[in-house]
Amino acid sequence: MAKKLNYVCNACGASTTKWAGQCDSCGEWNTISEEKPLTSSSSSKAIGAKRGGRVALTALDTHETPPPRTRSLMDELDRVLGGGLVPSSAILVGGDPGIGKSTLLLQAAAMFSSNGLKTIYISGEEAAAQVRMRAQRLGLKDAPVQLGAETNLRDILTTLEEEKPQLAIIDSIQTMWVDTVDSAPGSVSQVRAAAHELTSFAKRKGISVILVGHVTKDGQIAGPRVVEHMVDTVLYFEGERGHQFRILRAVKNRFGPADEIGVFEMTGGGLQEVRNPSALFLSERGTPSPGSVVFSGIEGTRPVLVEFQALVSPSPHSQARRTVVGWDSSRLAMILAVLEARVGIPFAGLDVYLNVAGGLKVSEPAADLAVAAALLSAREDAALPEGAIVFGELSLSGALRNVSQTENRLKEAQKLGFTTAIMPKGEKTPKVAGIGTRGFDDLTGFVGEIFGAG
Ligand code: TYD
Ligand code: MG
Repeated sequence: MAKKLNYVCNACGASTTKWAGQCDSCGEWNTISEEKPLTSSSSSKAIGAKRGGRVALTALDTHETPPPRTRSLMDELDRVLGGGLVPSSAILVGGDPGIGKSTLLLQAAAMFSSNGLKTIYISGEEAAAQVRMRAQRLGLKDAPVQLGAETNLRDILTTLEEEKPQLAIIDSIQTMWVDTVDSAPGSVSQVRAAAHELTSFAKRKGISVILVGHVTKDGQIAGPRVVEHMVDTVLYFEGERGHQFRILRAVKNRFGPADEIGVFEMTGGGLQEVRNPSALFLSERGTPSPGSVVFSGIEGTRPVLVEFQALVSPSPHSQARRTVVGWDSSRLAMILAVLEARVGIPFAGLDVYLNVAGGLKVSEPAADLAVAAALLSAREDAALPEGAIVFGELSLSGALRNVSQTENRLKEAQKLGFTTAIMPKGEKTPKVAGIGTRGFDDLTGFVGEIFGAG
């Protein structure tokens, strides 16, 4: 019987029996690639045909102490991990090539090892000399990290088994090669097999592993998406090219809150922690100008002030442009529609550009009012009152909804010298000394009072 080939989507891991240009499961294009079955004996025999051993079962109320955590003493990293590194945990750090993953993890390795954790850093991408040179440049050469340059997973596992480190960093999972799998390094089968070997090894031996994964747009290299299910924690390292800010974001964490962010700045001497991200994101701001609005947002457990910038200009095209950086484009479309339908301010025939300064991606609906304010301010060529921050969620009816953590948002604004908050009118608005509040029930009231129109 001929060996049946299988096809797997690089993006979501769904398997099919024939190749297709688009994956049926996730809709991504050009992500399907061929994969040989893992074992030739994957026959149709039901697993129940042969009896297995018994699984130990326990009650829910057995007492477990929370896992001891080791801190890297890089606060931004520790917070994203949920308070430090949990023993035997598997972590995936994903991000675009060149964003700074290797730099971050070399620094983390140095910090963890200096804090008493036996750490091994395996690079499959760079020669040991290259990594050593980087360590020297970053001033980390005295940190007790053990360094290896290898891609053969069998050799790596043997080394880890003998050395018994507490933390192993694998840079990157795409370069690892498992000799039992018959396809090229970087293919889905290889990435999946390597990640499976490493995570189960970590659990068995009580070693924490951090896997680095590249995300590519064209789907050539297997994305780490298939790996996301296997690990305890998934962190994404993001930032805009040309910006020095880098944001480490927890998108999944079995040991802490998801959506927590850590902010770093890429400098000549490596990544520096940014203790006060609001100050950094607002640092290039001058006097209030039309189209610029400061939003008091919450990222994870922390308030962060960011500037929304909008530009509205007559469109030379038959179809006006809508360009968004750092926010959701369908949410922008919704706000434009609400402005038109509920307040009677049309944007047809106008190009709209919206940008979050500093390269942060904002996903909170609480930014709705700030976006609406930036769009109106740009359209009317009128700046917002000096010292004002804005937040509030917008409903399709044009009503303003209260958002969570109002007090934290106000406190952060006050800390950075703002004096007024433009926000939804709440039943009980918390009082924060030094900051006045202007509450509105709906968008019409807001537009009438702030822009004298509507
Ligand atoms: P790197 O960590 O190699 O990225 P990744 O592992 O995600 O591919 O970092 C690559 C970029 O970072 C590179 O363009 C140079 C820059 N960089 C600095 O600006 N300062 C530094 O101290 C270091 C080490 C790198
Ligand atoms: Mg790298």
